[in-house]
Amino acid sequence: MANVVVGVTGSVAAYRVPDLCLELSRRGHEVRVVASEEALRFVGRDALGFAAEEVITELTERAEHVELAEWADAVLVAPATLNTLAKLAYGIADTPVTLTALASLGAGKRLVVAPAMSEHMYRSPPARRALRRLEEMGAVVVPPRLEEGKAKLAELEELVRAVEGELSGVRILVTGGPTLEPLDDVRVITNPSSGETAARICEQLRAAGAEVILVHGPMREEARADERVEVRTTEEMLEEVRKRVGDVDAIVMAAAPSDFRPRERARGKLDSRSRHTVELVPTPKIIEEVFPEFDGVKVAFKVDPEPVKGARRLLERVPCDLVVANPPETLGAEESEWWILDRDGEVVERVRGPKTELARVLRDLLIERLGGDGGGGDSS
Ligand SMILES: Cc1cc2nc3c(=O)[nH]c(=O)nc-3n(C[C@H](O)[C@H](O)[C@H](O)COP(=O)(O)O)c2cc1C
Repeated sequence: MANVVVGVTGSVAAYRVPDLCLELSRRGHEVRVVASEEALRFVGRDALGFAAEEVITELTERAEHVELAEWADAVLVAPATLNTLAKLAYGIADTPVTLTALASLGAGKRLVVAPAMSEHMYRSPPARRALRRLEEMGAVVVPPRLEEGKAKLAELEELVRAVEGELSGVRILVTGGPTLEPLDDVRVITNPSSGETAARICEQLRAAGAEVILVHGPMREEARADERVEVRTTEEMLEEVRKRVGDVDAIVMAAAPSDFRPRERARGKLDSRSRHTVELVPTPKIIEEVFPEFDGVKVAFKVDPEPVKGARRLLERVPCDLVVANPPETLGAEESEWWILDRDGEVVERVRGPKTELARVLRDLLIERLGGDGGGGDSS
C-alpha cells in the first residue's frame, strides 16, 4: 500500500482519471490528485474529488507541492501532455503538476509518466527527447497505445502496475564505487571507479519499485538509494554487506573494491623525499566470501581482457546467477560494452552504449528472476 499522487494534465484522456484513482484505491493505495488548470477543461473537479481523498488545483502559501512530495511514495502523471513532459524534462516548474512532480523526483520518490497525445506529437523529436531525458533521470515512462493515429493513454491496469513497480516488495543490495586502502594516515591505494554504474543501477531498480541499499566507497556520481552505507576499505565493505545478506532478495556487486592493501599501514605521513617499498597483500574477495552462502539472486561484475572467458572462469569458482563482464579498456569511457552471462555460462545479453542502457537491461533480467511483491530469489 502506497501514497500515490496522480497528476492530471490537459489531455482528452483526463476523463479516465477518476476511474484510475478508484482502481488505485481498490488496490489499497491512498490517492491524492493534483491537476493543471488545463486538465480541468477535460475532467470535472467534482469527479476527481469523488474518486480521490484530496484534489489540488492551485498552490497556496501552504506550498502544497512540498507537502505532497513528502507525503507521496509515487507520483503518476497521467495523462501527461507533451507540454508537461517537456517542462518536467527541463525543470520548468510553473503548474501544480510540474511543481509536485519535480519536487517529488528531487525527494527521491518514484515518478511515473503516462503520455497521451496525437501520434504525430508523440513521434515529434521534442517528445522523444523529453521522454529519454526523463528516463535518464530515473522516471518510468508507461508507453501509450498507438491506435487510430493517436498515442492513447495506457490501460489502467498497466498504470497501476507501473506505480506499484515490478520489483515492489523486493530488497536489493548494490555495492558501488572504489574502496580505499590506507598507505599511511593521509595516502590511499585506490582505483578510478566513479561509481556511475552502481548509481545508474540503483536508479533503474528504484524506478521498478525495489527498495535499494547501497554500500559504497567514495563515489563521484550522485546516487539515490533507500539506505546508503559509506565505507572506506574492502574489509569494511565486506562487513557491511555481510550484515545485510540475510535481509535482501538480491545482491548486485557493482563496486570496484581495491584488490590489494599495503601489508602495513604507516603511522603519520611517509616522508615524501625518501623511497619506500610497499608490500601489497590481497584484500578479501567479497563475492567469494558472500555468494556461496547467499540464497537470493547473485549478480557479479567482472573486468577481464577476455570478458566471456573471464566470466566463465568466475562461474567455475563462485555461484552467480548473472555475471556482467566487460574489458578493461572500456572502463571510464562514456560508452562501453558488456556481456551478461547466466549461471550456466551462456551469454544472455550483449549491451553496447551508456551505463544507463546496461542498468536497464540488468533491471529487466532481475525482474525476470525476482518477480514482485516480496520476490524471493531463484538462486539454487
Ligand atoms: C481538445 C484538446 C485536446 C488536447 N489533447 C491533448 C493531448 O491529448 N495531449 C497533449 O499533449 N496535449 C493536448 N492538448 C493540448 C494541451 O491541453 C495544451 O498543451 C495545454 O497547454 C497543456 O497544459 P498542461 O500540460 O499544463 O495541462 C489538447 C488541447 C485541446 C484543445
